[in-house]
Amino acid sequence: DWTTGNVIEEQIESIRAQVGDRRAICGLSGGVDSAVAAALVQKAIGSQLTCVYVDHGLMRKGETEQVEKDFVAATGVQLKVVDAQERFLSALAGVSDPEEKRKIIGREFIRVFEQAQAEIVAEAPNDQPVEFLVQGTLYPDVVESGGGTGTANIKSHHNVGGLPEDLEFQLVEPLRQLFKDEVRMVGQELGLPEEIVHRQPFPGPGLGIRIVGEVTRERLDLLRDADAIAREELTAAGLDRDIWQCPVVLLADVRSVGVQGDGRTYGHPIVLRPVSSEDAMTADWTRMPYDVLARISTRITNEVRDVNRVVLDVTSKPPGTIEWE
Ligand code: XMP
Repeated sequence: DWTTGNVIEEQIESIRAQVGDRRAICGLSGGVDSAVAAALVQKAIGSQLTCVYVDHGLMRKGETEQVEKDFVAATGVQLKVVDAQERFLSALAGVSDPEEKRKIIGREFIRVFEQAQAEIVAEAPNDQPVEFLVQGTLYPDVVESGGGTGTANIKSHHNVGGLPEDLEFQLVEPLRQLFKDEVRMVGQELGLPEEIVHRQPFPGPGLGIRIVGEVTRERLDLLRDADAIAREELTAAGLDRDIWQCPVVLLADVRSVGVQGDGRTYGHPIVLRPVSSEDAMTADWTRMPYDVLARISTRITNEVRDVNRVVLDVTSKPPGTIEWE
């Protein structure tokens, strides 16, 4: 019968049978699925697995450190971190169009990932070949994409920008039979940190699609601060499990007049987008307690320079999407 222990044992056996003594790589996004998939594969084949984490500079506060420190400490996984912040920033310079941003981020991600992969091979050329790519594909993804196996036809949505088309890997997908809540249970059983196991969804393109307007380092820093405050207050209020996710969006191309201290300000608005949902296909805006909203608003306007207004998005999906871009 179904227990997380059984699932883990079965998967470990089948991963070992599939991979043998060859090598595998896995891209870590900081999200639950890739983390649990990596942890399972690590348990099965140990140092034959190398994980790659591309730091594109579009992550939220503390997320990169969480992967670098906590995830590695919990799993003992071999991790290659690529600092690609400059590269992503320059590729995004001058770009405001949402689709254009997504394309650029996806493209750069693939380039960096492929480069990392080439380096992994070059660093140990006499080891067994790297033939496998670990993916955190879940059962609902399998159903949605037609149930095919072994190929890389995963919606680009579930990935940072999709996979290279000339993919030469065989896929290892140990979560193919699982739903999200089961994946979390497996992650817990594998000893992954709570913050990773119960992480809310976060888009692959990261904060890049939460800045309406051009993405710059200053704007990213500002949004990271505002987002960290919102998350802190939501967690303190015990709302993390009630809210599906709460994008925090910077309207970088909008300014409004305000007054702070004894001076006039002309700053940017921050949008809070708390949503309730089962599967992100549809969503409703969360009726959040006013006092929590008030605390978030006060803190953001006090603590984040250049932000003088906080607004609440009260649109359901449809017609609004969860993200603004
Ligand atoms: P939308 O904005 O389409 O978002 O209502 C639905 C869910 O998907 C997440 N999302 C993404 N996840 N890569 C991802 O991995 C992406 O490019 C991406 N875009 C949106 C979004 O956060 C929400 O949970």
